[in-house]
Amino acid sequence: MPIRNITENDIDVLVDLHIESFKESLNILAGKVYLREVFRWFIRTNNIALLTYDGEGITGYVIGAPIGYEKSMNRALWIYGLIGLLKNPTYFLNKKLIDNILKRTKSIMGLSGMKNQPLVREKGFGISLVGIAVSEKNKGQGTAKELVIEFEKIAKNLDANFVRLSVLKENIRAQSFYEKIGWNKLETINGIYYFKELK
Ligand SMILES: CC(C)(COP(=O)(O)OP(=O)(O)OC[C@H]1O[C@@H](n2cnc3c(N)ncnc32)[C@H](O)[C@@H]1OP(=O)(O)O)[C@@H](O)C(=O)NCCC(=O)NCCS
Repeated sequence: MPIRNITENDIDVLVDLHIESFKESLNILAGKVYLREVFRWFIRTNNIALLTYDGEGITGYVIGAPIGYEKSMNRALWIYGLIGLLKNPTYFLNKKLIDNILKRTKSIMGLSGMKNQPLVREKGFGISLVGIAVSEKNKGQGTAKELVIEFEKIAKNLDANFVRLSVLKENIRAQSFYEKIGWNKLETINGIYYFKELK
């Protein structure tokens, strides 16, 4: 399946694909305006932003950035997140969401550092796979595998020593996918991570 860089014109379709793929995720609560800005940020900052497509349209995407990207992304996008949340103030009763907002605020202020992120310094320069999804009707056809292979290639060209990601404990499907494509699992008290050294 062909792969190309994400452009501004793709963003609306990608936001819908993201929402369809991450129904349980907290960042969906911040709304489409915020999610659009997330994709725009990855394009604008020349980070990794790739999609696959076929004759009918976009089939999947992957985005990524050097470990530690959260600080500058949160700094650029917090206002869009706040606007999204203010549209539905009842979300402020969601404890998980409030914890997440506090974490992001700390990250903007440089208070949280990288102490909760394994594999930050010990293996050199790492690139984080921030998001990947494939549309429902294209799942199970090797699309995500192609996206990750291209992701690893670009990361290597950017002189990364390793790639990593974090995944929710409940997301068994994604975990078996990462294992199938040869990434290594790292389970810590802070969550589940996968990584691969780039040789
Ligand atoms: C996880 C996800 C990206 C996988 O996409 P996909 O295109 O269906 O995966 P692929 O078809 O490329 O699978 C590649 C390999 O993993 C295997 N695999 C994929 N899904 C699997 C599953 N549920 N269980 C076991 N193996 C699986 C495939 O069999 C394939 O192996 P093969 O090459 O030997 O046949 C997709 O399910 C998705 O979009 N999920 C929702 C979003 C999400 O959870 N993203 C990850 C967040 S961390």
